[in-house]
Amino acid sequence: MLTAYDYSMASIIDQAGMDVILVGDSASNVMAGNITTLPMTLDQMIYHGSSVVKAVKRALVVVDMPFGTCSGNPLLSLEAAIRIMKETGADTLKIEGGEEIIEDIKKIVAAGIPVMGHLGLMPQSINKYGTYTVRAKEKEEAEKLINDAGLLEKVGCYAVTLEKIPAKLAGEITAKLSIPTIGIGAGPYVDGQVLVMHDMLGINKGFSPKFLRRYEDLHTVISNAIKNYIKDVKSKNFPDENESY
Ligand code: KIV
Repeated sequence: MLTAYDYSMASIIDQAGMDVILVGDSASNVMAGNITTLPMTLDQMIYHGSSVVKAVKRALVVVDMPFGTCSGNPLLSLEAAIRIMKETGADTLKIEGGEEIIEDIKKIVAAGIPVMGHLGLMPQSINKYGTYTVRAKEKEEAEKLINDAGLLEKVGCYAVTLEKIPAKLAGEITAKLSIPTIGIGAGPYVDGQVLVMHDMLGINKGFSPKFLRRYEDLHTVISNAIKNYIKDVKSKNFPDENESY
């Protein structure tokens, strides 16, 4: 699974053979320049989701429910979920949280909307944690996570994302569940992996957590292309005769 937020990149990612494209609320960070994912609105997620859906011919498209749209009022959560599904054409939703919002998830699943859970580090709860460090290193939090994962499976989630937790714990949860787990910073003992596109392509050079593998240095590639364009225009090399009418 890989994130995408716009038509052009989603098209490349889909054609490259990605199984699942996540319209993550990480758009808040990498597209909008916010420090957290909290400012992302339902309308903004719908804008990104519908742009991605138009490009995708084969991958499963998952859209994140943004902060505040699924927080303990099942009817309001269902209303937001239906808006995303209707207005984007996405296949499924991803929702951060466990036991505290289990009734919301139950209601959404009952309406025929497939839901991927999201446990471990939940960026929408950053103000509760106060830090983006590895979660569930202590027994109590690990036990809650295992319980939450079981609840998500029980209410009908078809998969669960596990973010930034110890690899051994992620392996234990994966072995316990019959639905697939998708890890980010959760080690190799999960069923699938997810990364943020800007991070893995090296567009976003300032973010270097241990779990990230960079597959390209697009920051340098794009920067060099732009410098060459500036140089060519200033030196009157561009446009030449073949590039003129
Ligand atoms: O918003 C996002 O991109 C995510 C991934 C980090 C899993 O939720």
